[in-house]
Amino acid sequence: MVKAVRIHEYGGPEKLRYEDIEIGEPGPGEAYVRHTAIGLNFADTHNREGRYPLPSLPHVLGGEAAGVVEAVGPGVTDVKVGDRVAYAAGGPAFPPGSYAEARLFDASRLVVLPDEIDDITAAGMIVKGLTAQYLLKSVYPVGPGDTILVHAAAGGVGLILSQWANHLGARVIGVVSSPEKAKLALENGCRHALVSTREDVVARVRQLTAGEGVPVVFDAVGRDTFDISLSCLRPRGTMVSFGTASGPVPPFDLFRLNRMGSLTITSAAFAWFVRSRPELLSRAADLIDVVLRGAVKIQVNQTFRLADAAEAHRALESRQTQGASVLIP
Ligand SMILES: NC(=O)c1ccc[n+]([C@@H]2O[C@H](COP(=O)([O-])OP(=O)(O)OC[C@H]3O[C@@H](n4cnc5c(N)ncnc54)[C@H](OP(=O)(O)O)[C@@H]3O)[C@@H](O)[C@H]2O)c1
Repeated sequence: MVKAVRIHEYGGPEKLRYEDIEIGEPGPGEAYVRHTAIGLNFADTHNREGRYPLPSLPHVLGGEAAGVVEAVGPGVTDVKVGDRVAYAAGGPAFPPGSYAEARLFDASRLVVLPDEIDDITAAGMIVKGLTAQYLLKSVYPVGPGDTILVHAAAGGVGLILSQWANHLGARVIGVVSSPEKAKLALENGCRHALVSTREDVVARVRQLTAGEGVPVVFDAVGRDTFDISLSCLRPRGTMVSFGTASGPVPPFDLFRLNRMGSLTITSAAFAWFVRSRPELLSRAADLIDVVLRGAVKIQVNQTFRLADAAEAHRALESRQTQGASVLIP
């Protein structure tokens, strides 16, 4: 038996239950991972609410963790007992389940960690850092001379995305909700930080780009920022929608993209960019490289006990967190 945080029905943070579960022995291709640190992600709140449905109920929440391999099932060659690893869940084949002292997970989805990266850092960076990697390298390759707009720039993904884009030579305009978050964004890759509660974001972006607009917006806020994001784009610009922290984007008229400048829009998800072990390892190597070189600093600014996961959800959903948050089992 191990302790885990499960939901038995969808709903608010009060639905989280800290309880004993049985996880059994690793089957073919699986590893038994003893967790030492568990990453908190906004998607966990969507799983909890049922907006991103879980395969079945009751179900353990959580999409990322770091830990140690304690046993492996038949046929496992990618990792061995004793390896320090981290992983990201994502897509139907790799469901949530990291809010637990241990779990079974597909061994081909484990990344072996270098000694220089501690467990809390690893748990705060695997989902968020790989997300920043595929967004900046594959969805819209960002480079010198690009001015880009990043919403929730002081959040978990936002701080990594902004630092990495800056490292790639882009000028980053971050959008945040408070002056405290603006300060953090400016310290972490943003050349400009717009406070959405106090400034007209569209007008400021136009001003900062000599009226032209930006070539790309990275928007994981969704409903509240969708129209703002489109209005900040230059002709033929790209809107990368990769999350809906404020709620889902309502249906919209495709022809608007035509009239606003032949815009491109994509709805990007992690699972589609990490489709094989070679792809996972190549993206993870890129992430580990920028972290080890200090180009991207992983900021775990909040830790909670696993038993207090509901408190962590409340903090994340009420926009109180900055950078990454980690649960300690
Ligand atoms: N598609 C993918 O592959 C992928 C992968 C990972 C994460 N994501 C998405 O990326 C986003 C960031 O994830 P994260 O875990 O790093 O979370 P986070 O950014 O640390 O937290 C969410 C942030 O969104 C902003 N926000 C704006 N409106 C909000 C509202 N109504 N309620 C709550 N927050 C609001 C807040 O920043 P301000 O206070 O500054 O506005 C808040 O801090 C999420 O939407 C997540 O689902 C997508």
